[in-house]
Amino acid sequence: MSDIRLGVNLDHVATLRQARGTDYPDPVAAAALARDGGADSITLHLREDRRHVQECDVTRFLAGGLLPLNLEMAATPEMVAFACRVRPRYVCLVPERRAELTTEGGLDVDSQLQAIGDACRRLGAAGVTVALFVDPDPAQLKVCRASGAPQLEIHTGRYADAAPDRRQGELERIRAFAAAAQAAGMEVHAGHGLRVDNVAPIAAIPQIVELNIGHAIVARAVFVGLVAAVAEIKQTMRAARRDST
Ligand code: PXP
Repeated sequence: MSDIRLGVNLDHVATLRQARGTDYPDPVAAAALARDGGADSITLHLREDRRHVQECDVTRFLAGGLLPLNLEMAATPEMVAFACRVRPRYVCLVPERRAELTTEGGLDVDSQLQAIGDACRRLGAAGVTVALFVDPDPAQLKVCRASGAPQLEIHTGRYADAAPDRRQGELERIRAFAAAAQAAGMEVHAGHGLRVDNVAPIAAIPQIVELNIGHAIVARAVFVGLVAAVAEIKQTMRAARRDST
């Protein structure tokens, strides 16, 4: 059985902190609990408007060396310079619009191939492994390869938000895309909108080696604690993977 990793996104621990301008809850302290629950890596999204994660969260987390960091960010010169300086293990390049509530769609790699390709080269030279966050659209795959990124993360938001009669179709799109991406030599991740009740079909896709999950884990942690919330979703993912083989 091929294993599947869980990256826990702790942005919304920082959201709670920023809501009151306090110094708690601390996403770096939360990372230790996420690890105890079974997180394989931690994801932090440093947004242009700094609405949740701050630079100092990233540097404090990296100083602790607890788990590999996956830094989500836009491919802007400012962010690329920051990542090249602090050198997380991974960067996931995402599109970003100030007004959005969350990352609403994947990157349009084709229209920004130059900027994304430059970012991939600079980050790669700094020793950072880059993933591109894309919709499961076959047109994106060729340009993802051309960018030089070794990894991609499939945006699962449409699957997660789909009405019941549309969900299977979205799942088939993800399945086909994951198979094509792996065949093209890319490492395949997925994330967005995943929860205990919808993660299993995604975790069962054999080409997907990592899921990045945030909002549902932090929301569930309010009721059961962060260690239990992470453990619950990790067990669900692993059971789905086991049952699929
Ligand atoms: N992957 C990427 C690239 C994202 O932008 C996000 C949201 O920040 C996630 C995964 C996690 O999504 P969610 O918070 O819905 O689990």
